[in-house]
Amino acid sequence: MRVIIARNYDEMSKWAANYVASRILEFNPTAEKPFVLGCPTGSSPLGLYRQLIKLYEAGKISFRNVVTFNMDEYVNLPEEHPESYHSFMWTNFFSHIDIRKENVHILNGNAKDLKVECENYEKAIEAAGGIDLFMGGIGPDGHIAFNEPGSSLSSRTRVKTLTTNTIQANCRFFDNDVTKVPKQALTVGVGTVMAAREVLIVCNGPQKSRALHHIIDDGVNHMWTASALQMHEHGIIVCDEEACVDLKLSTYQYFMDKQTLEGALPQYIDKF
Ligand code: GLP
Repeated sequence: MRVIIARNYDEMSKWAANYVASRILEFNPTAEKPFVLGCPTGSSPLGLYRQLIKLYEAGKISFRNVVTFNMDEYVNLPEEHPESYHSFMWTNFFSHIDIRKENVHILNGNAKDLKVECENYEKAIEAAGGIDLFMGGIGPDGHIAFNEPGSSLSSRTRVKTLTTNTIQANCRFFDNDVTKVPKQALTVGVGTVMAAREVLIVCNGPQKSRALHHIIDDGVNHMWTASALQMHEHGIIVCDEEACVDLKLSTYQYFMDKQTLEGALPQYIDKF
């Protein structure tokens, strides 16, 4: 796995967004051969989305031939609820770019049959040719999408019950009231994310440092589901300094030396 340590949140976001934009440009997508992008929600990727919007506004990139699949959605929360992941994606990203509505895929947490909804989602990903690049964030307990601790590392899209930890972490979006946070979600599996041709995770802030330590310093473990990234052929974690405070000093220095020697930070921060 590649680990890129940016100095702060803005640099992390810029690096990640410019990397994604470069990948799309290199791919040169067409209507017949679109680029398939996996999308996360959460506060971590907000800066990444802002930078992608800037690149679009500056005419550097188009999303016309990009197909998206979102990671997850709450169960039984109306789509138009301001905290639904549908609302999040349109408010923070899709409404600001030239993506075609029919190219956007987000799980329907209000579907009559949730199991069928999940099975169809996997089929739709397959029909689109698989995901070229899955972007993601991680929860404070190291979860990816809503794959809570103990999730199978080969899991596919399904219903998950959220842990108390996640409900507490997300109650900031629901008037700090845990009773208002949905208790279940539909989520792509760890296996779904790992099947993408490339995975790029953003991770920032001290509240993620313990998770980052387990994901990078330790071995693959179902209690820190994002650690499955160690098994991916093209996995990248872009983090900020604050998220690194619990990393082993030797790990931190190893990745720092490597990125300095390779000039990896300016390569994408200064790209556009
Ligand atoms: C939720 C989402 C995850 C996200 C996590 C962290 O649990 N399902 O995809 O990574 O929150 O969110 P934040 O970036 O706000 O810390």
